[in-house]
Amino acid sequence: MAMKLTKEQKEILDGKKGDTLARVMKTLVMYGETFGATKMVKVTSKYNHLVTSFGLKALGPVYDLMNKLLEAGAKSGQQFSVDPRPLDKNVPANFLQKLIFKKFMYSKQDFYEKQLEALGLMNKDAFTCTAYMDEVGNKPKQGDVLSWSESSAVVYANSVLGARCNRNSGIMDLMGSVVGFVPYFGLLTDKGRKATWIIKVKTTKKPEAQLLGSAIGMKVMEEVPYVVGLDKWLGKKLDDKTCSYLKNFGAATASNGAVGLYHIDKLTPEAKELGKDLICKNAKEYVIDDEELERVKKDYPVVWKNINAKPKLCFVGCPHLSLQELLDWTNKLEQNLKANGRKKVLIPTVFTTPPAVLKVFEKLSEGQKLKSFGVIVSSICPLMYMNNPLCGKMPVITSSNKLRTYTTARYYTDDEILEKLTKGGKA
Ligand code: F3S
Repeated sequence: MAMKLTKEQKEILDGKKGDTLARVMKTLVMYGETFGATKMVKVTSKYNHLVTSFGLKALGPVYDLMNKLLEAGAKSGQQFSVDPRPLDKNVPANFLQKLIFKKFMYSKQDFYEKQLEALGLMNKDAFTCTAYMDEVGNKPKQGDVLSWSESSAVVYANSVLGARCNRNSGIMDLMGSVVGFVPYFGLLTDKGRKATWIIKVKTTKKPEAQLLGSAIGMKVMEEVPYVVGLDKWLGKKLDDKTCSYLKNFGAATASNGAVGLYHIDKLTPEAKELGKDLICKNAKEYVIDDEELERVKKDYPVVWKNINAKPKLCFVGCPHLSLQELLDWTNKLEQNLKANGRKKVLIPTVFTTPPAVLKVFEKLSEGQKLKSFGVIVSSICPLMYMNNPLCGKMPVITSSNKLRTYTTARYYTDDEILEKLTKGGKA
């Protein structure tokens, strides 16, 4: 069915604002029609968020598009944040790994960052996948329509903040932001936000966020789950701790499956407002207990050449850690190092967090403490680091289920990671 456009949208399509914008609008209309969209709606958030943050050599068409937009004077409709940088000189890498990063992978990084700045980057620190954190400042309001595509950010914005955004592909986020309209379908509609799965959490302790999200993602794939029984462990308030939990949970649902929105009974905004009215008739059911989580974890493949290898690197913070999480980790490490009579972690370790959070954390006594334990705090994207074939060959451990899914990194729970960092033991 052809889309119904407003006068303003038709004019853009007809070239009133130039050929480049007309083409961008045409692409968005075609994209929307593929998914049965009947109209285009205004992007209402103050800021946008782009997924493509890396100046990969092979991204020629992206640079060309950005150049055309800039030449046409088409700045992004909103200023934007962007996913984390792929490089950080503080993160350990040997000579050959560095050579591959600089010469063969992210050789266009500086050039691309200049393009981003010219197009409307919020500020030089706006490189993070958790731009919705207070320190960064890109936090959409409930009901805002977004043009984002970073999967962990989309699921958070939809579920925890109650904004409305589809799981777009990269570049679509930029196009929607430039013309200021996105096609109306899927998670933008009330119907598309209804749950087709009821998830019953029946664990005997607070489930590990990354494992619970993984189990749900793999079961429901791109559908919308309504989770009951989790408020018992999380409470009924979206405070810092709970938001961090939901950030990690959501990223696992989005990467181990393709979830773009979840509802948590009595906790997330739409579930609080509409309760079980959000659940479709004939919704399917999935019960998660301790055994089910154990089964899911056991089934993760380990792709290391030598499964008993000693880990060479540990990444925590994919998605980026909040200030609260950095403080919690510092306290836990302090206690456990002391209990084991140690001063430093046993594996080279990188915690990742947004640049704006890092600035705050570094000034705190905990920031100095964590440094003294030998932990590097960075704003890198661990996945882009692991995409270097020489890094992918290393035995790397992580408590991120997203990193486990897309790279050779091996997953452990936060407690297991803590033990490995402070007590040692085999992989
Ligand atoms: Fe963020 Fe990179 Fe992980 S974008 S969610 S740190 S893969």
